[in-house]
Amino acid sequence: MPPLAKSLSARLLVLTIAFVMLGEVLIYVPSVSRYRLVYLEERLAAAHEATLALEASPDGMITTELEQKLLAHARVRSIALRMPTASYLMLGEPPAIDAAFDLRDETAYELIREAFITLGQTRNRVLRVIGSARIDPQILVDITLDEAPMRTEMFDYSGRILILSIVLSLMTAALVFLSLQWLMVRPMRRITASLVSFREAPEDASKDVPATGRSDEIGVAQRELAELQRGLRAALRQRAHLAALGAAVGKINHDLRNILSTAALVSDRLADSDDPEVRQQTPALMAAIDRAIALCVATLQFSRAGGPELKRERVELAALVDDVGGAMTQAEEGGVAWRNDVAADFTLTADREQLFRVLFNLGQNAVEALNGAGEVRVSASRDRRSAVIEVADTGPGLAPKAEEHLFEPFAGSTREGGTGLGLPIAREIMRAHGGEIRLVKSGGGGSIFRLEFPAD
Ligand SMILES: Nc1ncnc2c1ncn2[C@@H]1O[C@H](COP(=O)(O)OP(=O)(O)O)[C@@H](O)[C@H]1O
Ligand SMILES: [Mg+2]
Repeated sequence: MPPLAKSLSARLLVLTIAFVMLGEVLIYVPSVSRYRLVYLEERLAAAHEATLALEASPDGMITTELEQKLLAHARVRSIALRMPTASYLMLGEPPAIDAAFDLRDETAYELIREAFITLGQTRNRVLRVIGSARIDPQILVDITLDEAPMRTEMFDYSGRILILSIVLSLMTAALVFLSLQWLMVRPMRRITASLVSFREAPEDASKDVPATGRSDEIGVAQRELAELQRGLRAALRQRAHLAALGAAVGKINHDLRNILSTAALVSDRLADSDDPEVRQQTPALMAAIDRAIALCVATLQFSRAGGPELKRERVELAALVDDVGGAMTQAEEGGVAWRNDVAADFTLTADREQLFRVLFNLGQNAVEALNGAGEVRVSASRDRRSAVIEVADTGPGLAPKAEEHLFEPFAGSTREGGTGLGLPIAREIMRAHGGEIRLVKSGGGGSIFRLEFPAD
């Protein structure tokens, strides 16, 4: 199991906190600008109210003392009121201003920008703000005020938002963490543990993930894993069976060969018998024994084909093909031409003996199919990804039964006395080399078998 800091849960926790904080920032930006706008609008409204006292006085005049009180109450430096009737009211002396804003035509973007300019100030600016009165949009309120108190309030607000964000993100993260832990991480851990124990002891079913009725992805994973374990266990059992069976076949084969050798020796002597009847039967008996021995040899080869002991070496293919041809003409007398079209400098990495066996099997099949007349041609080529050897003959192609059971042990032979093991052995050997054997053409102009080796 990974350490906690690298675990899925820790990563999800950190991500959740980061995302909630990001969300809070996205909310904070417009809301702090909104906070500033509301602050200014409230100042405008308070300023408008303050001027009502001025209207109430009979001569439109008030004492300086009251004027200062009203301005302080509205928290502005000066107020000017413009009414549609062209009359004009004034409280306080407008000071020199640093910036002016008209709240009637501010876009959201400007509001946000100005809010951050406010937050970025280090000294107090004097602002002039113009806006319509809340009770009568035709009345224009024009005030000047200090920026510093507003800035302080905005910072207080930002601090509150920050604390709220932290609390929110921690709470959300905790909830997400717990639900993920419960929904994903714990089941995932169980699956992982089951995988680990399955690798260590595949036959032990006690650590399997218990079946649940979950319909989500985890449920699918659990069911698939259970299915996989069941299937693999069955395959392992079968493999053990087959291994035992293979050992038995090997032993029987060995004994059978000894018995057949004895039989061959005896039948050899029968050929010299005085009895003409016996002499006449002997060749048939010899042929039968030879076939039985061939079957034993092929079965043994099959059980060993592609075994672990590949002796890889640099093989000069042209020479090997010549050797195969030589072995073939010893076996088959007749008018079949063995044509070696492999370039003299063509080499590849393979187990020479095994590759000999593959080519010999293919060659023998071709010669048998040609039935005494025709040509077997071996050629080789290479590209970036693979080296390819082709064995082509000018025979009649494969019989339907052979093609149907191609590469199936004991099943594909159409020959009297054939074992049906030649091609399966060739495939085993090719796969052990990381390659493949294919039938690329059959019928009309003959058959072509192709051997593919991975590039080396
Ligand atoms: N080049 C070929 N031309 C025609 N038939 C072929 C050729 N190679 C293989 N076959 C067919 O495939 C069958 C299976 O071949 P193989 O596995 O070597 O078994 P076996 O040679 O013992 O019969 C052969 O019996 C034959 O009918
Ligand atoms: Mg064969």
